[in-house]
Amino acid sequence: MRVDDMAGKDHHHIDSLNDEAMLIFYVRPARSRARSAAVAEALHLLHPWHAITPSGGPLSERGGLFWLSLPGRFLEEAATRFPWLGYTSAVEWLEPQASASPRKGRRSSGDIIVRWRGRLFKPVRIYEENPGELRESAPDRRTFLLETEDGAVRAVRGYRGDGEALGRRALPVCDARLLTNLVYTRQGDAFLDPFAGAGGIVREAILRGFIALSSDRDPILRHGLTHLGSLHCVADACLLPFSDESVDAIATEPPYHQEAWQSVTSSLGEMARVLRRGGRLSMLCALGQAEGLRQMGERLGLSLCHDFTIGRKGLDCAALVWEKR
Ligand SMILES: C[S@@+](CC[C@H](N)C(=O)[O-])C[C@H]1O[C@@H](n2cnc3c(N)ncnc32)[C@H](O)[C@@H]1O
Repeated sequence: MRVDDMAGKDHHHIDSLNDEAMLIFYVRPARSRARSAAVAEALHLLHPWHAITPSGGPLSERGGLFWLSLPGRFLEEAATRFPWLGYTSAVEWLEPQASASPRKGRRSSGDIIVRWRGRLFKPVRIYEENPGELRESAPDRRTFLLETEDGAVRAVRGYRGDGEALGRRALPVCDARLLTNLVYTRQGDAFLDPFAGAGGIVREAILRGFIALSSDRDPILRHGLTHLGSLHCVADACLLPFSDESVDAIATEPPYHQEAWQSVTSSLGEMARVLRRGGRLSMLCALGQAEGLRQMGERLGLSLCHDFTIGRKGLDCAALVWEKR
């Protein structure tokens, strides 16, 4: 297989298709404390290509990175999902070096050579996110259709909610991606966000080819969410208008405010009802709310597969992921 380098000039070949391709993933600096969430995200997205986490890897002294390996013949296909990643901002492939080199270090200008398990490799950057593109898709740049009090609909740029404790909206793109990726199944499957807000998560689900269903109890959001491409309805998350086991995946971010905790905890029962067996549910919530949700998940027979603390610039949250057995 051929891997184009970042400049698109050089081409690198994996000599044997059966070779393991060793990859270095660089964790987004703003989420550097959430490395295990970044690993889980990449592993889940790349599991169709048998990605595994080796016990270690080169360049560990740099920090902010992790390693995955997969059979080289799958690398090109697996790499199509790198731009989906929320918590990884760049990926390097370790190109095996045929010629013997005396030791680790710079061999020629710009070439870093690393030694790993007795072999020499050159890290080749095969993916780097486009910061401009990410910036343009941020909540403060997006346009959202809002219904006004007189029933008119207007396009609002940078909509972040009404400022009330229960009406704040604007999940960073990287977190919306993480939550969606952790529950990803396949294109054409049904996805639900029952606290959809201004659609940060819904947008990511649609970009991945899910058929997105959304609901929110606030009616002013309905045109905006429908316009995004979601099958939207105005509904309380504690009484979802969907049949049992009708969705394949759920990702959501309920309000963090204590006033909402009780209804958010009971909405978990509704989410568990509409989720199909084997489906996953991810939720980003306030740290203080997480324990009640863990206990409720247990009572509902959901199996907790991930439990991460995510530091978001002074706001610590929990990302919980369950699977319905
Ligand atoms: C934090 S916002 C979601 C933001 C969204 N992730 C985004 O990227 O824009 C939480 C949303 O939950 C909605 N909400 C609050 N309580 C609800 C309930 N009981 N049922 C349904 N929606 C509710 C609010 O109207 C709000 O839009």
